[in-house]
Amino acid sequence: MTGFQQNSCMHISFCCTGTKAAPWVDELRAALPRASIDEWQPGSPQADYGVVWAPPQQFLDEQPGLKGIFNIGAGVDALMKLRLPADAIVVRIDDGGMAVQMAEFVCHALIRHFRELDGYADDIRNRKWSYRKPRSRADFPVGIMGLGVLGERVARAVDHFDFPVLGWSRTAKELPGVRGFAGQDQFDAFLAATKVLVCLLPLTPETQGIMNARSLERLMPGGYVINVARGGHLVDEDLIALLDNGHLAGATLDVFRTEPLPAEHPFWKHPRITVTPHTSARTLREETIAQIAGKILAFQRGEPIAGVVDRKRGY
Ligand code: NAP
Ligand code: GLV
Repeated sequence: MTGFQQNSCMHISFCCTGTKAAPWVDELRAALPRASIDEWQPGSPQADYGVVWAPPQQFLDEQPGLKGIFNIGAGVDALMKLRLPADAIVVRIDDGGMAVQMAEFVCHALIRHFRELDGYADDIRNRKWSYRKPRSRADFPVGIMGLGVLGERVARAVDHFDFPVLGWSRTAKELPGVRGFAGQDQFDAFLAATKVLVCLLPLTPETQGIMNARSLERLMPGGYVINVARGGHLVDEDLIALLDNGHLAGATLDVFRTEPLPAEHPFWKHPRITVTPHTSARTLREETIAQIAGKILAFQRGEPIAGVVDRKRGY
């Protein structure tokens, strides 16, 4: 079968909550000119593939014949909560320009804390010319939870700045410049050797609430938390208690249990918490469409594709 015949009658339904559909649909049509591509509405005809972000359950209930569900982000936690067609493969974005964004965001948060740049910014506002004692990188080991597509890239970037780097994953990994820990058995040893904790885990039943009083207390005194994965990984009140009793020095939080972060949430005003609006690694439309279009065509040809989610594991 030629490429033309393979995708000549393919139907793709776009269903991304909170995303303006028109440019996506137009650019998907340009990338797959032989396919029929529409924004999903209740009652839309059956599609072969879905391009989704946090779709409503109704979309999946009305599309039992989907062969593939292509998520326009890296995290599939919102999808995994839904009833999915039994035979559909679920595919997450595999980097697509996100990894370098995540590396720059985490390095920025780390270096801002390590070099005390917030303190210098306060001084400058007060026209005060002052120096802080240089700190040693050796005293700031960075522990990255999750060494997947994003965590591995972040580990590499942090290593370039000569911080000691530790990584924790489900299965053992050997990465240059990274002291590897794996599984529950090695979790406490990983925490005890970490001062700056970076969360890049998927949100699954196993990782829900993983940053809590028990785990955060095990970090080195003066610990710092950078959560760029999901708000559900963190027990908010435990973080605040450990900041207030002085065990932790601060946190940069990009993700929250409720987004947008409610106006009354204490994170907004806490002097040692920096909040950003879930922006550490954004979906880039052009790269994402090129990746999804390429994978749909490869899947149609029966070729293996990267980024297929293990539905049992949940990521
Ligand atoms: P990934 O490639 O699926 O990697 C996940 C990593 O977590 C793997 O190393 C995996 O271990 C490890 N892991 C999973 N469950 C574990 C467990 N129970 N114990 C220990 N390690 C575990 O994911 P990714 O692409 O790097 O993305 C990570 C997360 O970042 C996404 O799920 C999403 O929630 C978040 N994210 C946030 C933003 C943002 O803007 N804030 C943007 C994109 C993504 P193995 O390697 O052994 O399987
Ligand atoms: C964003 O949070 C993503 O999972 O891509």
